[in-house]
Amino acid sequence: MAEVKTSVKNCDASAIDKTSSTAAPKRSDRKRFFTTETIPRLSHEDPRANELIAQEKPVVLTDTGLVATALGWDLDFLRINLGDGLFSVYLSDTDKFRYYDEKKRKDFGEDFLVGLERRDMKFPEFVELLQNWKEGDKRIYLQQALTDGVGKRIVIDFLGFNWNWINDQQKRNNWGQLTSNLLFIGQEGNITPVHYDEQQNFFAQISGKKKCTLFPPENFESFYPYPVHHPHDRQSQVDMDNPDFEKYPKLKQIKGYETVVEAGDVLYIPMYWWHEIESLDDCGVATSINFWYKAGPTGKIEYPLKAHQKVAMMRNIEKMITEALNNYDEVAPFMQSMVLGRYT
Ligand code: FUM
Ligand code: FE
Repeated sequence: MAEVKTSVKNCDASAIDKTSSTAAPKRSDRKRFFTTETIPRLSHEDPRANELIAQEKPVVLTDTGLVATALGWDLDFLRINLGDGLFSVYLSDTDKFRYYDEKKRKDFGEDFLVGLERRDMKFPEFVELLQNWKEGDKRIYLQQALTDGVGKRIVIDFLGFNWNWINDQQKRNNWGQLTSNLLFIGQEGNITPVHYDEQQNFFAQISGKKKCTLFPPENFESFYPYPVHHPHDRQSQVDMDNPDFEKYPKLKQIKGYETVVEAGDVLYIPMYWWHEIESLDDCGVATSINFWYKAGPTGKIEYPLKAHQKVAMMRNIEKMITEALNNYDEVAPFMQSMVLGRYT
């Protein structure tokens, strides 16, 4: 089992990770145009934690020990133990890393992708990029699913995760299978812009700090998501740092839930909840692993439908229309002629 190291909190020279001398510039608090409530931080033994998860509401669990064996995964350890495979590293001209779907990108063309590229590289190459990073360079974010290709030490640590706790959560909430564990290693100041996922997520922080801002699925219209056929499907079109209220007036209505996760914390991000994740200054890189679970089977349908159920329905209808028309340009006029003057 890996030696468990505590995360570096004080930026004194001896404590600083090798990358920190060249790490990204410090980032001050961003201006917010909306109000937030704090997401509760609870022990996993507190019954309120299980209640919140059962109600699909966010909560930070402070003591699950879920990834205790990974708390020693600093860059030196990972360089030796992560394995010889290729890792997806995103490079961005800005601090934003807006996810895109590779398959939809092929159908759609690449014009939409401005200032963001993916490069597959071996882990030492990524560490070198981080160490040699200087102001003006593209920002860097590794996002890679953990697979069989990783080294033995990583496998041992992985097997040492608190599977008892997480398997119990999966069972008690009737979730489907665990689909993947995505490893995120990024520079301070990197931002994953606001989006939603179609899976339940236990988001475990390994090192550094991340500010996580969540919004309930009721905000679908306020975030103006890209069309489902677009490579940025599930992502909001709005720029949260430079909001265009004329173009996106409903954005004014949002109200968020916020937390800062630190090493050892696990944030439950409920399926279909909008979320934005910002890596904060903490003297080094920010590392997380998420545990994604499929939704469980739909039980008895109760009315009125919940917001996330309506989102799922809208997605299906939109997909069906897009596929049936076989021409993206016809989708908007088609939907308009169904509704305008009839239901409006
Ligand atoms: O940047 C991030 O850590 C994003 C995580 C997520 O969207 O699940
Ligand atoms: Fe996400």
